[in-house]
Amino acid sequence: MPRIYLSPPDVGQVERELLLDAFDSNWVAPLGPHVDAFEREFADRAGCAAAAALSSGTAALHLGLLLAGVGPGDDVLVSSFTFAATANAITYVGARPVFVDSERSSWNVDPELVEESIRALRREGRNPRALIAVDLYGQCADYDRLEAICAAEDLVLIEDAAEALGAEYKGRPAGSFGRLAAFSFNGNKIITTSGGGMLTSADPALVARSRFLASQAREPAPHYEHETIGFNYRMSNLLAAVGRGQLAQLDAKVARRREHNEAYREAFRSLDGITFAPIDAYGRSTCWLTCIEVDPTRCGLTRESIRLALDAKGIESRPVWKPMHLQPVFRDCSHFGAGVSDAIFQRGLCLPSGSSLRDSERDEVIALVKNLYETVSNR
Ligand SMILES: Cc1ncc(COP(=O)(O)O)c(C=O)c1O
Repeated sequence: MPRIYLSPPDVGQVERELLLDAFDSNWVAPLGPHVDAFEREFADRAGCAAAAALSSGTAALHLGLLLAGVGPGDDVLVSSFTFAATANAITYVGARPVFVDSERSSWNVDPELVEESIRALRREGRNPRALIAVDLYGQCADYDRLEAICAAEDLVLIEDAAEALGAEYKGRPAGSFGRLAAFSFNGNKIITTSGGGMLTSADPALVARSRFLASQAREPAPHYEHETIGFNYRMSNLLAAVGRGQLAQLDAKVARRREHNEAYREAFRSLDGITFAPIDAYGRSTCWLTCIEVDPTRCGLTRESIRLALDAKGIESRPVWKPMHLQPVFRDCSHFGAGVSDAIFQRGLCLPSGSSLRDSERDEVIALVKNLYETVSNR
């Protein structure tokens, strides 16, 4: 039996043909017509003025922070409940991550705690420069409140929309909040270019500057002239071709992930002690990964017993992100929170959710979990 993966790449004939077109045109370089077209098409889709195609989502976050003016010694507030890349990028510019916990209602950064942490840092004479809000597992953070706080407190807001391409917040698309937003096209994301990312903004000048920095900051001169430190962060034309094919199918890919989410919810509705990541009424999640919380006191199972049972049958599932304030590498960073993400981490598990997951495979996952549940409750 082939293994069932959590969120594998889902590519097909459309992408293959575009990739071969790029190859045959000999634009085999980190620039070319597919890069330009992918940027235009993506900006339209994400509801922003401009987009820069980059080598990864992490590169997009790194350049986003540089363009926000964040530098050595600055404090940057960031959701603790995220993948390490969000926090790592803060350290690349010499700044210090300050981790802020989640609200229960969305698992995203808690706006009240953001305000509290700004006040607490200021009392210590520290002046936070920016906030990176993460759209966790495909659900937008509460941007009305976060935008208001950042405007009032003079913080630059950056949106980490790596998991949220296709999501909405009060009718606005993910990636249209804050001064800059970052997307990822890693192999496990909603659309993929094998590896890649996009930086978006309502300010085309910022995006133009990011393209300049991403191409080794070459000044306009016939020889190689440099006044600024640059990076090699541009996306290959080959990969942009794949990205265009993927983007054209975005709606279907998101719809499929939402279908999985609904099917899991329906199937586990009667299982006491198994609950789902909350979906806030303010928007529409991409349901990038469907996450459950397993309460051992109510159902006798743990997220680890379920994970191991699935693994034994060739099904991949994963614990939810381990919050950054619990990571040894960030042990010296400040943290504001009351244990919300800590508790979710103890109980949270991501289930197979890819857009290529077949109904029969999802049924297998469901049957295994239900079986396990019944075996334990009959003991
Ligand atoms: C929330 C979040 N931020 C950033 C990244 C980094 O993106 P990339 O892997 O493209 O560098 C990812 C995923 O990989 C992510 O899930």
